[in-house]
Amino acid sequence: MEQVKDIAVLILAAGKGSRMKSNKPKVMHELAGAPLVHYVMASALALDPVSVHTIIAPGMEETVGQAVAPNPVCLQTEQKGTGHAVAQAEDVLKDFDGTVLVLLGDVPLIRTDTLSALARSLEDNKNVIELLTFQPEDPTGYGRVLTNASQEVEAIVEQKDCTPEQALERRVWSGCMAVDGQQLFKLLSEVSDDNAQQEYYLTSIVEIAREKGLSVGFLDTDTLQVQGINSKIDLANLEQQVQQMLRHQHLDAGVVLQDPETVYFSIDTKIAPDVVVEPHIFFGRDVVVETGSHIKAFSHIEGAHIGQDSIVGPFARLRPETVLQGKNDIGNFVEIKKTTVGQGSKVKHLSYIGDAIIGEKANLGAGTITCNYNGYNKFKTTIGDHAFTGVNSVLVAPCEIGASAITAAGSVITETVPEGALAVARSKQIIKEGWAHSFHQEKQQLKKQGKKAS
Ligand code: UD1
Ligand code: CA
Repeated sequence: MEQVKDIAVLILAAGKGSRMKSNKPKVMHELAGAPLVHYVMASALALDPVSVHTIIAPGMEETVGQAVAPNPVCLQTEQKGTGHAVAQAEDVLKDFDGTVLVLLGDVPLIRTDTLSALARSLEDNKNVIELLTFQPEDPTGYGRVLTNASQEVEAIVEQKDCTPEQALERRVWSGCMAVDGQQLFKLLSEVSDDNAQQEYYLTSIVEIAREKGLSVGFLDTDTLQVQGINSKIDLANLEQQVQQMLRHQHLDAGVVLQDPETVYFSIDTKIAPDVVVEPHIFFGRDVVVETGSHIKAFSHIEGAHIGQDSIVGPFARLRPETVLQGKNDIGNFVEIKKTTVGQGSKVKHLSYIGDAIIGEKANLGAGTITCNYNGYNKFKTTIGDHAFTGVNSVLVAPCEIGASAITAAGSVITETVPEGALAVARSKQIIKEGWAHSFHQEKQQLKKQGKKAS
C-alpha cells in the first residue's frame, strides 16, 4: 500500500561524540569526501518530507548548521540523551500529525527506499513505533530489541543496561525509527533518566508505548546501511566499505580500473565509461572525467573537469577550478590550479600553472611556472592559441602571451608578448675562448706544488 501520511524528519547530531576523540563534531567527519550528516540529509530529502530538522549542540551552528543549510536546526543546550534530543523538536512539530522519522547523524549510509519502507510499515501495521532493526555478527554497543513469544517488540535495552541474558539477543536497533507524530511527544514526556548512563533514552519510548497497550513493530535490514560510527576505527572501516562500493559502481558503469583497490573516490566523482584509471589515484570532491581520457598512475585530482580524450599524469596534480577542455596532455610533476586549458594544449613536465587561461593547441615547455601570487594578491596569466613557452619560462603575472608567440628557454616574462613574437628575457651568453683550459692548468699547477687551490 502507498504511504499516505506526511513525513517529518529529525536528524540527531548534538552528541559529544567523545569516543571520536576529536574537536570536530562527530557528524562532520568525512566519508568519501563528504561529512556524515550530508549522507543522512540526502537520504532524508529524497523522501520529499515536509521538513528536516537537525538537532545540534551550541557551537555547531557554523559547522553542522552550515552543512545542513538551508534546512533548519534545533538547539539541544545540554546533551542529556537521544530522547531529550528528540524532545527539542516538540515546538516545531507539536501540530504535526504525520509520521516522524528519527535518524541518527552517525548512521550515514541509510537508504531512502529503506526509510520509505519503514514509514509504510508503520502505517500498514497501524503501529505507533516502527523500529529499523538488524542482526549484526557482533551486537556490542547497540540497543538490544527484546521481543515476546509472538514476535512483538517489548523493549529496547541499551548495552550498558542489559542483563547477561538480554545481551545475547542478536536483533538490535539501528538508530532509525518511524513514530506516529501524535504520540511521539506524549511518550517522550514519560521518559526518565533512571538507567546506567543517567540519560533520557529515545529507546525508552518503546516500553512506555507497550505499557499503554500500543503496538510497536520492527523491520529488519542489511548491516551495511545501518553501521553506526562511534570511533575513528568505525570511521576507517566504513570508509573502506564505501570505497569498495564506489569502485564497484564505477566498474559497473564501464570505467576501467586497473587496480581498483588503490583508487580512492569521492562520493560525487563522475567518470565516463571507457575512461582508463591506472593504479594509485586520488579523486577529491567535485571531479568530472569525460570519455576517452586516461588517468595515469599516482595522480591527485580535486575540483577538476577533465575534458574528452585527455591524458593526465603520471604524477599530476589538478586542483580546484581546473578545466581541461579536451585532448589535453598534462604530464608528470605538473600542478594546475584555477586554470582553463584550451583544447589540444599540453603541459607535459614539471610545471605550476595557477590562475591562468590557456588557449587551444598551446605547448607549455618543461618547467613553465606562473608567478601568480605576490604574498597578498593573485594575478592572471593569459596564453593565446598555439603559443609555445620555452623550457623554464617564468611568467610573472599579470602576464599575457599572444597567440602563436614563443618565449625563449629560461626567460622571465614580465611584459606582454605580442601575437606571433619571440620574447627572449634572459642575459645574453658570453663566450671566453680557451678560458676553461687555462683555469684547469693553473689550478693543477698549484696542486702539484702542494699549495692549496684558491
Ligand atoms: C544509540 C541507541 C542504540 C542504537 C545505536 C545505533 C539510544 C539510547 N541508543 O546508541 O540503541 O543501537 O544508537 O547506532 O538511543 N545525540 C544527540 N543528543 C544527545 C545524545 C546523542 O543529539 O544528547 C545524537 C548523537 O549526536 C548521535 C546519536 O544521537 O548522532 C546517537 O548517539 P550515541 O551516543 O552515538 O548513541 P549510541 O550509544 O550509538
Ligand atoms: Ca552512535
